Amino acid sequence: MIRLENLTKHFGEGANPVVAVDDVTLEVPSGEICVLLGPSGCGKTTTMRMINRLIEPTSGRIFIDGKDVTKVDPIALRRTVGYVIQQIGLFPHKTVEDNICVVPDLLGWERARSRARARELLELVGLQPDLFLKRYPKELSGGQQQRVGVLRALAADPPLMLMDEPFGAIDPINREVIQDEFLKMQRELRKTIIFVSHDLDEAVKMADKIAIFRGGRLEQFATPNDLLANPCNTFVESFLGGDRALKRLRLIRSDAAMVRDFVRVAPETTLGEARARMAARDEPAAIVLDDGGKPLGVLTRDAAGTGDGTVSGAFRPDPVAVPAATDLRIAVSLMLTHDLPALACVDGEGKAVGSLTYRSIVTTLRAHGPEAGR
Ligand SMILES: Nc1ncnc2c1ncn2[C@@H]1O[C@H](COP(=O)(O)OP(=O)(O)O)[C@@H](O)[C@H]1O
Ligand SMILES: [Mg+2]
Repeated sequence: MIRLENLTKHFGEGANPVVAVDDVTLEVPSGEICVLLGPSGCGKTTTMRMINRLIEPTSGRIFIDGKDVTKVDPIALRRTVGYVIQQIGLFPHKTVEDNICVVPDLLGWERARSRARARELLELVGLQPDLFLKRYPKELSGGQQQRVGVLRALAADPPLMLMDEPFGAIDPINREVIQDEFLKMQRELRKTIIFVSHDLDEAVKMADKIAIFRGGRLEQFATPNDLLANPCNTFVESFLGGDRALKRLRLIRSDAAMVRDFVRVAPETTLGEARARMAARDEPAAIVLDDGGKPLGVLTRDAAGTGDGTVSGAFRPDPVAVPAATDLRIAVSLMLTHDLPALACVDGEGKAVGSLTYRSIVTTLRAHGPEAGR
């Protein structure tokens, strides 16, 4: 756990110092990722660098696992905190192996142990040790260098990691890959992470909690879903942008928004019966199921018309469905692409367990749906 208490940094002397960080208090539980987010110059890096004492606070305190680290030896502190910077900062004259082992070497680990650790870490991110251990940084692509930068910070297995725009220098496609890879790693490693970003999408994807800064002040500290649903002031609202409801969709699972007692019909059901069931629930469509409960398609109220006959001749045989764990961004995208007023959600066996409609989604967004599991 890390706790910042009234943390403040003034640069410069005299009557008009630059107030880079202004009375910031926040707490990050163990194993969570906190993203410091905000426009350039708002104090993110300064906040982060005070945590490992590369910058001395003007006032305020920092507790790591209950211990006030504003009092401890800064060099010893830095060896227990992982640090990844945007410029990567690998030592050009050291091999990948020696770069990864920098902190273990400083800590006096036995060579066999640190070298085994370097192998293990490279494997963790899919870089074959035999190919990469002896290379120099200039013999790696940007994405590979970035991975090694992250591994170097992880080498001594620090409980706390500081990451300053760690993926900022990578092109958008590789950035998504390395973010996913990092989240996968984090699910196992459960580090406590302070992560600086100026990219809202990255923050929403990576964060358990987001801390939004403006001019050195902490404006809002909330889960991504909470933040997107309830920005606390007009600055935060404009920072989040006009599409913040769309950004929330990726945080909510389909099963949190689906209707469980949706209107079910079979191909043999009469259109009169289907119309009556849809009208009774005031639903825009019914899901057509086979004998085994798997979706065959959708019958809209329009297609059910006013005449006789059965569902089989009227429904759209388009078995588009999503697994119940799919995030709403993907589900809504399918509804828009296929012009579906209702979308079946299925379990692991492909059986329909619910139906999404625009109304059920809006209701969930309003009711502040639970976040998608990561
Ligand atoms: N060493 C310094 N001396 C004077 N001002 C600084 C120094 N470092 C940062 N600042 C100022 O403090 C503010 C916050 O900077 P920084 O924490 O780097 O912002 P961010 O990381 O959010 O872009 C900025 O106005 C910056 O110009
Ligand atoms: Mg910065």
